Amino acid sequence: MDQTNEQPSGVPTGGLAYPTVPHRPLTVPAGAAEERARTFHEVMDRRRTVRDFSDRPLPEGVLEWAIRTAATAPSGANVQPWRFVVLTDPERKRRLREAAEAEEREFYGRRASAEWLEALAPLGTDWSKPFLEVAPAVIVVFEVHKGPETPRPYYTKESVGIAVGLLLATLHQAGLATLTHTPSPMRFLNEVCDRPPEERAAYVIPVGYPAEDARVPDIHRKPLEQVMIRL
Ligand SMILES: Cc1cc2nc3c(=O)[nH]c(=O)nc-3n(C[C@H](O)[C@H](O)[C@H](O)COP(=O)(O)O)c2cc1C
Repeated sequence: MDQTNEQPSGVPTGGLAYPTVPHRPLTVPAGAAEERARTFHEVMDRRRTVRDFSDRPLPEGVLEWAIRTAATAPSGANVQPWRFVVLTDPERKRRLREAAEAEEREFYGRRASAEWLEALAPLGTDWSKPFLEVAPAVIVVFEVHKGPETPRPYYTKESVGIAVGLLLATLHQAGLATLTHTPSPMRFLNEVCDRPPEERAAYVIPVGYPAEDARVPDIHRKPLEQVMIRL
């Protein structure tokens, strides 16, 4: 083994001009790779956006692990431009619902174009957002834009989008349901969540167990042939 790879953190190695540490690859035998990928697909293929939640409490620790996992996402220039605000206090969730429904009434009643409303029709969504109070937790994900913590932001939106993907995957894997909700506009969330102006809310994600009688829209995913192009 190359000894230079065993240098402790912070020591330039292997002739590189910046500090490195040994990489810790997840070693999967080539013969097991496809099976591992297929098994993960089967788990992820069962994820659905849920809009009817039970108030059953969350198991201890899951939110923290999911947010730790989200925060492992790659990010432009490693800026890690995310903030995950977890609301569990009923009074805070009530304020969130009230403010969100006021915005959504405007959206569905006035601002949304006919075309947009048509695209939303098969999902059965409207201004009413009871899940913001019923779900035991709501995670509001903020992008951290230019400010004291992030003097030079890079690819903020893209980085936060990837982090949210990991968040949803971890919560799903733990048996919890999520709803990726994007009220528009979202400025009111800074006040509800006590966040400074350089942080911009991007997702409101209720988390919990689905209601026992929860149903989901009968929609389908595009087949591989339609989404993958091999050149
Ligand atoms: C960026 C983004 C924004 C979304 N916004 C909303 C929303 O505001 N309200 C809602 O009910 N669903 C919202 N969804 C959920 C989508 O409608 C849902 O993911 C899609 O219909 C596919 O269904 P599935 O997640 O069950 O596979 C959003 C999803 C994404 C990725």
